[in-house]
Amino acid sequence: MARRSVLVGSGTCLPERIVTNAELATRIDTSDEWIRTRTGIHQRHLAGENDTCVSLATGAARSALENAGIPASDIDLIIVATSTPDQAFPSVAVRVLGELGISRGYGFDVAAACSGFIYALSIADGLIRAGNARCALVIGSEIYSRILDWEDRGTAVLFGDGAGAVVLRASETDGEDGILVTHLHADGETGDLLYVDGAVGLRDKPGVLRMSGRDVFRHAVAKLASSVDEVLSSCNLQHSDVSWLVPHQANIRIIEGVAKKLDLPMERVVVTVDRHANTSAASIPLALDEARRDGRIRPGDLVLMEALGGGLTWGSALVRF
Ligand code: ACO
Repeated sequence: MARRSVLVGSGTCLPERIVTNAELATRIDTSDEWIRTRTGIHQRHLAGENDTCVSLATGAARSALENAGIPASDIDLIIVATSTPDQAFPSVAVRVLGELGISRGYGFDVAAACSGFIYALSIADGLIRAGNARCALVIGSEIYSRILDWEDRGTAVLFGDGAGAVVLRASETDGEDGILVTHLHADGETGDLLYVDGAVGLRDKPGVLRMSGRDVFRHAVAKLASSVDEVLSSCNLQHSDVSWLVPHQANIRIIEGVAKKLDLPMERVVVTVDRHANTSAASIPLALDEARRDGRIRPGDLVLMEALGGGLTWGSALVRF
């Protein structure tokens, strides 16, 4: 028998306001046609004045707890992956503990940009396997609209806001269910390809996102293709064993590129980038929740998740449902 982390619930929280490409094109020198053909994005949800990273994370957490059918009091660990916290501290995770009325257990945030959810999932899995947590909420929550340069059409059209969450529970199993393996990577030498040019530590310079799109694209397809091969071969599994690919939703062309390297038809890839745009650390749990709720992902399915983001950071996770 081995102690494993089993994914028992998932949830979503998206801001009410939907902004289409056509609406963006009234404010920015762009067009629906350019955005759709280059990225696959049709629309995005953007945070309203009252939305915060904590409120979106809490909404996704409540939705995931309800989906799992467990009370908040069962949770003893919250990890929030975010690059857009409301405050330097307390962490978003500890604020969410407070919102849920949990006064025991522990929580912290993880900053790994768009790979944040894979990083957070990997850390939560490690803590559960080590016996340091029993039931964890892993949340990706982002408000990128607040760190975009709205004058830069090359980046402003790519992102959206939202939060997604999963509930992991420790399970003693001799079967093959739960998180099988996670692999994480980072290459600090590529830090200037995608970054925010400021932070709370720099007085009067909160910072906006900067990106060399073509370079990121090139790194994304190559690094993600080798990352997914790495996780599969570490479990002696083949491309054909994958039931569903749930990729980070940055750009449909990156997603198609990875699916092609896996010989996976697009019918087995969960895509939300058309409706959510790139929600960074929130994109995988948002996509996963959609595919669990609409019945695509079923018990026994092997789900492969992968992401790449600023750092560059990247990684993959393999989960049996
Ligand atoms: N609307 C209209 N025209 C635009 C826009 C826009 N929103 N943005 C750029 N252009 C123009 C440029 O000015 C340029 O015009 P020019 O040829 O007259 O100089 C032209 O379109 C081509 O610009 P490129 O930046 O070279 O466009 P490219 O084909 O590389 O597409 C894109 C840009 C979509 C960002 C692409 O590089 C890409 O997908 N990169 C991946 C990066 C990504 O997805 N990042 C998200 C965060 S990282 C992550 O999550 C993995």
